[in-house]
Formats: sequence, structure tokens, C-alpha cells
Amino acid sequence: MDSARPHERPTAFDRMLAPLHRWIWSDTDRRVQKLLRFGETETDGGRDILRAAEVTSDPLLRRLYLEHAIDEFRHGVLFRRRAAALLKVAPSASNAGFQGDWLAPGGHGLDDLQVDGEPDSDMLAFLHLSEKAAASRFSVYRDVMQHDPPTRAVFEEILHDEAFHMNYTLTQLARVEPKRHRRHLWRARLSRLWKAYLRLATGLAGILGSMLLTIQYFVLLPPFAWLAKRAARRERLGWTSSGRSDSLDREY
Ligand SMILES: [Fe+2]
Ligand SMILES: [Fe+2]
Repeated sequence: MDSARPHERPTAFDRMLAPLHRWIWSDTDRRVQKLLRFGETETDGGRDILRAAEVTSDPLLRRLYLEHAIDEFRHGVLFRRRAAALLKVAPSASNAGFQGDWLAPGGHGLDDLQVDGEPDSDMLAFLHLSEKAAASRFSVYRDVMQHDPPTRAVFEEILHDEAFHMNYTLTQLARVEPKRHRRHLWRARLSRLWKAYLRLATGLAGILGSMLLTIQYFVLLPPFAWLAKRAARRERLGWTSSGRSDSLDREY
């Protein structure tokens, strides 16, 4: 982490989660799954930023968004290529298990991006915070990837672009909204916080749901199974009358 430049320094929260990330990335299957998902997120983000370039009326922003979109598409390719290289060396098992995605969604957060109808100021504030979060997380991922130098190099390369994206979006936000850019940033921060809460709550609800179902399986099902077995033991073998003694004495 000493090698991190000031703009690439991870947040305290991401630093705190570094041991968890180290564990998640230590497994090759999980690494492949995460790289593939990151590749998807980057490409989707690039597509949305390309749409932002189409809808903005600001010529400078259009050019910057285009460069940004090309970067994100390239990141998607880099992640997918690295995942493919890992798969060639060690074919993936079907289930990669826990990946902690609700702690760090796709590394980037660009999947929450909504382009149409958004003013440039809101778009830039959202992009700035997403890129800042990506730069913070990717610097942690790079640092915990000591055991896999090629994947580490991918994060290192992408990190430089994310830092550029983080900086240009802030500069442009201050240009288009010189007086109210801080307010836009706070609004975007609150929106991200709310989405992070929803993600966390969904993740916790999933864990709690699994725990409750497991408890139900082991606590509620055994008595029913026992009752069913007891009833089966009492059942007489073969055809039995339903209790109406005349039923066999008549034609219908
Ligand atoms: Fe990216
Ligand atoms: Fe980016």
C-alpha cells in the first residue's frame, strides 16, 4: 500500500475489508467468477457512458464521455481476458461459493447508473463517486493480489484510468456547476449510501433466510416425519374398507 499515490489510496472501510478481500481473491474459482462479473460491469458501464455522450449538449463532455466509454470497454476486455487465461490454467468448478458481492458490487458501482433524463451535473457527481469507489477498491484488490502478478498488473493498469475518470468528472462538475457542485456531490453520496444500505440489507436477508430455512428443516420436519412413519406402521396392508361395511355387498 505504500506504493499507492494519493488519488489511489483506499478508503478506511476498504482497508478494513482487505483481509476478507484477500481471502475471497485467494481462490482461483472465485477469482475467475469475480473477474468475469467485473468485465460485465465495466462493459455495461461503458455502454451507459456512451449513451451519456449521445445525450449531453456539452461538446467537451461528449468528447470526455467518449474517451471514458472506450476506457471502460477496454477494462471489460482486460478482465475477461484475464479470467480466460486463468480458466485455461485451472478450469473452474461449477460453484465458486461466497464472493461478498454485496460488500463490493462489481467493484465499480456503475451498474446503478441511469443516463436518460439526468442533467450533466448529476451524471458527473454520480460518475465521480463511482470512479472514486472503484479506484479505492481496485487499489485494495491490487494490494491483496501478491500471489497472482498478472491479475495484479490488470488492476494496476485499470486503476490509473479510474483515477483519471475520478479526477476529470470532479473538474467538469466544478465547471458546469461552479457554485453548487458540492451540493450535487452530497446528493449523489446520499443516494449511493441508500443503495449500499439496500444491498447490505438484501445480502443479510439472504443469509438470515438460509439460516431460518435450515433451522426449520432440522427442527420442524423431524416430528412430521416421525408422525408419518407412525401412521404408516398402523396402516393395514392391502385393500381395506373405508368403514362402510355395505360397500362390498352392493354392485355400485
Ligand atoms: Fe473501469
Ligand atoms: Fe472508470
